[in-house]
Amino acid sequence: MNKITNDIYYIGVNDHQIDLFEGQYDVPNGMAYNSYVILDEKIAVFDTVDQNFTEQWLGNLKEVLGDRKPDYLIVQHMEPDHSANILSFIKAYPDTKIVGNAKTFTMMSNFFEGLDLGSNKLEVKEGDKLSLGSHELNFVFAPMVHWPEVMFTYDSTDKVLFSADAFGKFGALDVDEDWACEARRYYFGIVGKYGVQVQAVLKKAAALDIQTICPLHGPILKEDLGYYLGLYNTWSSYGVESEGLFIAYTSVYGNTKKAAEMLRDKLLEKGCPKVAIADLAREDMAESVEDAFRYGKLVIATTTYNADIFPFMKHFILDLTERNYQNRTIGIIENGSWAPTAAKVIKGMFEKSKNITWTDTTVTIKSAVKSENIAQIEALADELMK
Ligand code: FEO
Repeated sequence: MNKITNDIYYIGVNDHQIDLFEGQYDVPNGMAYNSYVILDEKIAVFDTVDQNFTEQWLGNLKEVLGDRKPDYLIVQHMEPDHSANILSFIKAYPDTKIVGNAKTFTMMSNFFEGLDLGSNKLEVKEGDKLSLGSHELNFVFAPMVHWPEVMFTYDSTDKVLFSADAFGKFGALDVDEDWACEARRYYFGIVGKYGVQVQAVLKKAAALDIQTICPLHGPILKEDLGYYLGLYNTWSSYGVESEGLFIAYTSVYGNTKKAAEMLRDKLLEKGCPKVAIADLAREDMAESVEDAFRYGKLVIATTTYNADIFPFMKHFILDLTERNYQNRTIGIIENGSWAPTAAKVIKGMFEKSKNITWTDTTVTIKSAVKSENIAQIEALADELMK
């Protein structure tokens, strides 16, 4: 049995069969759906797991419970990766009280037609407490991190924050990998739009003495919590995490790619500490989105296409703007064989984005890189190095 503290147990599962998480994210190292139990005078279970793991999860739970029965199922998030087994749970433990807030129960009836919890429904409000005996649970609402009904639960006895999706990452728990890389890709993919709401809940968390964070995905965090909280603060305030620059390009025949790579080489030559570069048609889009938020400067290199821009670039920019991309410097390399208009389209797409600084230099290629473009690339590199 996997113990987190004396009374808190891990009963989650690893998913290595999944192809796309939430229907869109590539998860080469699988996914973990975490679930927890507190054994006290009363027993509380935190969230269920994905629909494909009913038996395994109920088995994990049974192993911790022995002959006892749970008193509460705390539903922190109604997204099906955590809520899919609420009905199976109720079937196995019909006397358990289901704990959620007003929004949780509205969503529950949307997902499970005809569900009537009767007297087993326990609705909580922000700041409510629930005593399990020696453990006291405090409900901290975290709307839009990642859905409106989300709430965290703070166990003031063991100083554990159950943080729902926050501080989660892609990747199963039986794979050893760096936290930040997959947590950043997860954060900007899934919660990136809601920086303001994440900031609000981080302020609430700052008032708590937290020694352990138990998220619904990814590892349990026990050491160096300042590191994780600091990254969440940077990400949710749209701050710059790393020195350097990201070049995102698409290229039909390799000419735009050539210009993007020439710019990368120039920047490195001039001492830029890090230049990340990605071909948006071939590399993971969510990885490119996280890199755009990671660095303070972005270069977009693409072609004019159907009087618009190349589809993968359009997708990328929409991913950024709908996640409130802001506080960044952007440079453009555009290519167009007869009527290059990509730069104009790109600037239009960022029109509503806050605090974007455009470089004075835009590289305009007509078909292939020529001597005038080499001078423009040099000028753009100089500007970006300032
Ligand atoms: Fe892990 Fe928003 O669900």
